[in-house]
Amino acid sequence: MINDKKVLFSGMQATGNLTLGNYLGALKNWITLSDEYECFYSVVDMHSITVRQDPATLRKRARALLTLYIAAGLDPKKNCIYYQSHVSGHAELAWILNCFTYMGELNRMTQFKDKSSKHADNINAGLFTYPVLMASDILLYQTDVVPVGIDQMQHLELTRNIAERFNNIYGDVFTVPEAYIGKVGAKIMSLQDPAKKMSKSDENPNGSIYLMDDPDTIMRKFKRAVTDSEGMICYRPEQPGVKNLIDIYCACTGKTPQEVEREFAGKGYGELKPAVGEAVIAVLKPLQDEVARLSQEKSYLDGIIKENAEKANYYAMKTLRKVQKKVGFPERIR
Ligand code: TRP
Repeated sequence: MINDKKVLFSGMQATGNLTLGNYLGALKNWITLSDEYECFYSVVDMHSITVRQDPATLRKRARALLTLYIAAGLDPKKNCIYYQSHVSGHAELAWILNCFTYMGELNRMTQFKDKSSKHADNINAGLFTYPVLMASDILLYQTDVVPVGIDQMQHLELTRNIAERFNNIYGDVFTVPEAYIGKVGAKIMSLQDPAKKMSKSDENPNGSIYLMDDPDTIMRKFKRAVTDSEGMICYRPEQPGVKNLIDIYCACTGKTPQEVEREFAGKGYGELKPAVGEAVIAVLKPLQDEVARLSQEKSYLDGIIKENAEKANYYAMKTLRKVQKKVGFPERIR
């Protein structure tokens, strides 16, 4: 607990271009959580280097992501928005927790298996221990809840196991975190293959709407979106492409699928697609404008970055010192 509130932690990587799926499925919902929880939202740049990165690009993207968090409406006075690499406690706790995590556990992680087959020329130890760094992110702040997608559930489960193992040996050191199950964000699928999640690493750029796409590009992608030959606008699993379009429309307008079915009764996909495009543009355009405006506010952003790193560091150190003592590191002389 911090300030009588439960602690919430989440992070995103600054690699790849964020998509509408990242926004509607995660970021947009984070905004509603800041009253109820003490929130930490990290730009997890240390995770990013498990895959080779161009330094200038990583730095630029990390700044853009942090700016986007704020532009999307996360108040940086209420939410701790910071770069993971600015708080050394993440790396220090990760080392200790590495010693409490088994090779066998890490070997079972499906994301490691996926990533090591994709990057067969660079299967480094960091890629292998990536979940331990993620566990450290979470445990460092005595986190109660973690909003994560299904793809990160296995890592969260491992985090819980590490926390419980540590607590069993040393007493109650870590809060054992839970997955956040509240109103979850919309699950947005690829526009080109509605069986696949919309992803920033998709090779086909027409499947994803990127948050920085201009209106013409957005329209064009929606007009090309894969639907079916049923020819009617129904919200049902048998029509996954249409269902996805309706989901996107609902997430952008606040309407329910039933309202959308009524709105488009008797109409064709030729009318639905541009309507969804317009609704998305109406959401993304102001966001893009705000990103552009904030990006100019260099000293304001630098101030936020500094203050929030200090705040994160304060809470991180509280946990880290306790852990260091428990495992037997000598006391610091001051
Ligand atoms: N691994 C997460 C992802 O790729 C990002 C992440 C890092 C994270 N640390 C975290 C998410 C801690 C939640 C909590 O999506």
